[in-house]
Amino acid sequence: MRTYLETLGCQMNKLDSELVVGMLRESEHTFVDDPKQAELVIYNTCSVREHAEDKVLSRLGWHDKRQADGAAAVVGVIGCMAQRMGGELTQRFASVDFVCGPGQIHRLPDLIDAALDGRKPVALDPARSEPRDAAAEAGVNRLDVSRRANALADEPALATLCDAQAYVRVARGCNQFCSYCIVPFVRGPERSRPPQAITEEVRKLLDAGITDVTLLGQTVNSYRHAEPNGPTTRFADLLAHLSCLPGLRRLRFVTSHPAGFTRDVLEAIRGLPNVCEYIHCPAQHGSDSQLQAMNRGYSRAEYDDFVAMAREVVPEVVLASDFIVGFPGEREADHQQSTELIRQAGFKNSFIFKYSPRPGTMAERTYADDIPDDVKKRRNAELLAVQNAASLAHHEGYVGREMEIIVTGPSARHDKQATPPTPQRMQLMGRSRGDHIVIVDGPERLIGQYVDVTVTGANDRSLFGDLRRQP
Ligand code: SAH
Ligand code: SF4
Ligand code: F3S
Repeated sequence: MRTYLETLGCQMNKLDSELVVGMLRESEHTFVDDPKQAELVIYNTCSVREHAEDKVLSRLGWHDKRQADGAAAVVGVIGCMAQRMGGELTQRFASVDFVCGPGQIHRLPDLIDAALDGRKPVALDPARSEPRDAAAEAGVNRLDVSRRANALADEPALATLCDAQAYVRVARGCNQFCSYCIVPFVRGPERSRPPQAITEEVRKLLDAGITDVTLLGQTVNSYRHAEPNGPTTRFADLLAHLSCLPGLRRLRFVTSHPAGFTRDVLEAIRGLPNVCEYIHCPAQHGSDSQLQAMNRGYSRAEYDDFVAMAREVVPEVVLASDFIVGFPGEREADHQQSTELIRQAGFKNSFIFKYSPRPGTMAERTYADDIPDDVKKRRNAELLAVQNAASLAHHEGYVGREMEIIVTGPSARHDKQATPPTPQRMQLMGRSRGDHIVIVDGPERLIGQYVDVTVTGANDRSLFGDLRRQP
């Protein structure tokens, strides 16, 4: 069946899409990059901001029109927005044939069959307050473990990783309940996977040629697994187990939460040679009153302490953050505190988002969305400008230094170069251990390899390097 899959949202969704592609390929699906050519169209969706949902709603409107014009594709919605809206999607859009929550994706082959039979199945995860279904949990966990190491760099939706890189989930769900956030509602309570299952999965990936693994969790550093009557594995223990696996050159993890960031994890980064010196640990805001209204569970001083401790224990550490502007009640003075935090912390980069009220969250139910959009836009642009200057300064600090990168693919602009690219020489992109983007000219065969470069230049997004020696 010709299938088109589009993925929105975070790395969790990208990993889920990879698992979906691997599973559907076994039942004779081929993947195409144009929805018009597809017999089956699947959207793996995100609910984190209204904009992400609007994108999918407009795609579904397009499918409704096509269906009215007589074009027949089976259309399915999976992921977080599927979970949030459920049967409302099949009611609102005649073209939607099935809906599948993030904890049900192992059932997709059956759901597709039911949809082909003309039924309109809606398979959702239980609400947070309801008990989890053990069979469904086991089913979706099996999908993680049974995956092939099919790093799907050839699938457009998944082209963010090269053949040597893979995401591995260590936990599902989130218990943090930041007041603005939909994730705890759509992804359910936090469940840490057993360390044996994670180890088995990583070992399989390494056997298949993966060398660079990114562990995923919404608050990845709060990973904790207790065997009944047995040992408890905390996140630093998990890093220590995994780092011993032969063939693992790089191990990193996203996303960290500042409140539970303990010294042992920093010591693991310092002490374990393949654990990378990169921590994405969003601050979200620089002002105490906003942090409190966001229910983040730490103060500005505590975040500053985290940054200081990270730099003390791991002097080479590279930090990255997220910020929200225009959260309800944000005064100009609060906003200045975020600006100041970015000036001080030395983040490599920050993602900056305008607050978007999400239905059912504490913030949406409690506070009016009282910051006008033009103010949100201005504050967003201001934070971005301050972060861009900080990113440039951060990157400039590496000029003249040598570093190892993994070459991940052609650079985004490789075809716009003065001299046309050839397999012998093209503009390539790679990643440092600190997750810097590094642009370097070299032969195509280096993709997926580790090379040493000398950094010769920098801007606010990337470093530019020369190959020191080729393997
Ligand atoms: N678990 C991760 C990522 C969650 S979503 C973490 O805690 O960092 C990624 C980012 O989206 C968040 O860090 C936050 O900055 C942003 N975000 C989440 N909900 C949002 C909302 N309602 N409006 C705007 N940005 C939001
Ligand atoms: Fe959302 Fe907060 Fe959980 Fe991150 S930690 S997923 S921002 S509730
Ligand atoms: Fe979006 Fe779901 Fe990730 S809401 S950010 S795809 S966990």
